[in-house]
Amino acid sequence: MLQQFDERNRDLIVNINGQLTHRDQAGVSPFDSAVQGGDAVWEGLRLYDGRIFKLHEHLARLRGSAKALAFAEIPPREQIIEEIRRTLDANGMRDGVHIRLTLTRGVKYTSGMDPRLNTRGPTLIVLAEHKPPVYDKRGLTLITSSVRRFPPDCLDPKIHHNNLLQSILAKIEANAAGADDALLLDTRGFVAETNATHVFLVRGRGAEGNSELRIAKNESGSQAQHGPQAPSPAWAESGPQTESGPQAPSPASSQAGVVVLTPRLVACPEGITRATVLELCATHGIAHDERDLTLTDVYGAEEMFCTGTMGELAAVTRVDGRLIGDGALGSWTRRLSALYARLTASGGVRVVD
Ligand SMILES: Cc1ncc(COP(=O)(O)O)c(C=O)c1O
Repeated sequence: MLQQFDERNRDLIVNINGQLTHRDQAGVSPFDSAVQGGDAVWEGLRLYDGRIFKLHEHLARLRGSAKALAFAEIPPREQIIEEIRRTLDANGMRDGVHIRLTLTRGVKYTSGMDPRLNTRGPTLIVLAEHKPPVYDKRGLTLITSSVRRFPPDCLDPKIHHNNLLQSILAKIEANAAGADDALLLDTRGFVAETNATHVFLVRGRGAEGNSELRIAKNESGSQAQHGPQAPSPAWAESGPQTESGPQAPSPASSQAGVVVLTPRLVACPEGITRATVLELCATHGIAHDERDLTLTDVYGAEEMFCTGTMGELAAVTRVDGRLIGDGALGSWTRRLSALYARLTASGGVRVVD
């Protein structure tokens, strides 16, 4: 999957610290912290019909990441939203748009990594592009990368930072193997995420499914979660709730034996789409659990899908040459994708009319 140039983006207007400039003229200083050391944090946002889905959650994660990196100054939420609005207005955008929001530590008086060299900052970049969800939703092929994702004792994955070299190295491996993306393990050998998305497995097939899984228990003996108790990542507390879930489209009886699984937050960021999928499972009584998963769990899953703001939910149908399930888009992936689409069709924070 290689993203293609979209003609609608030829004359984009980019916002750097409030300055609106044509994409060909826009630039940051060579003394900027992002250039000097990748010393920046970022968010990927998606605009649906004038509304940004989970905007407050994204801005809370940005702020949390910048605080962890001890940025001297973090623009207030309303200022960031205003700059996003100005950028969208300048480009006449209201739907099918992906926004890359970057906040760097700012400009240094000489090159070097030391934050004490920073005299001006931060730098806020709003890059909005026409970009429909990027993945082929019929099914992606993954390979397992030799690159491992850091646990928190190496570099805390809760910091959503611009040092993407692990992901880039993994993507190079996927490209060389002719795969769409790469699956990364953590340093213990458990599945972490892909180079750009979180992953979910579906075990069991429902009413006609695997009897061994009719009681959804995890390996440590704890009961998988059913019902309304959704997980609460740290950033979830700081933003107002703006979305509510649609009702389940199929009866609970068809869910018997099915469990939706995702790795614990050990070596992957606190994904906003991931949390939304877990909330959807909780709202609709779909058994789900966050647990350590190995490649054997992946190869043996009935279904697999990946999640992220950029590509929403996308089926994974082949990993390391093994077919996942029957190698086609599965019914649970389809169902959760439909529930997610219903949320994005009505939720979010209005930023342009
Ligand atoms: C490494 C990584 N994994 C997963 C995701 C998906 O996260 P979200 O659902 O919050 O977009 C992102 C997105 O920024 C990411 O950078």
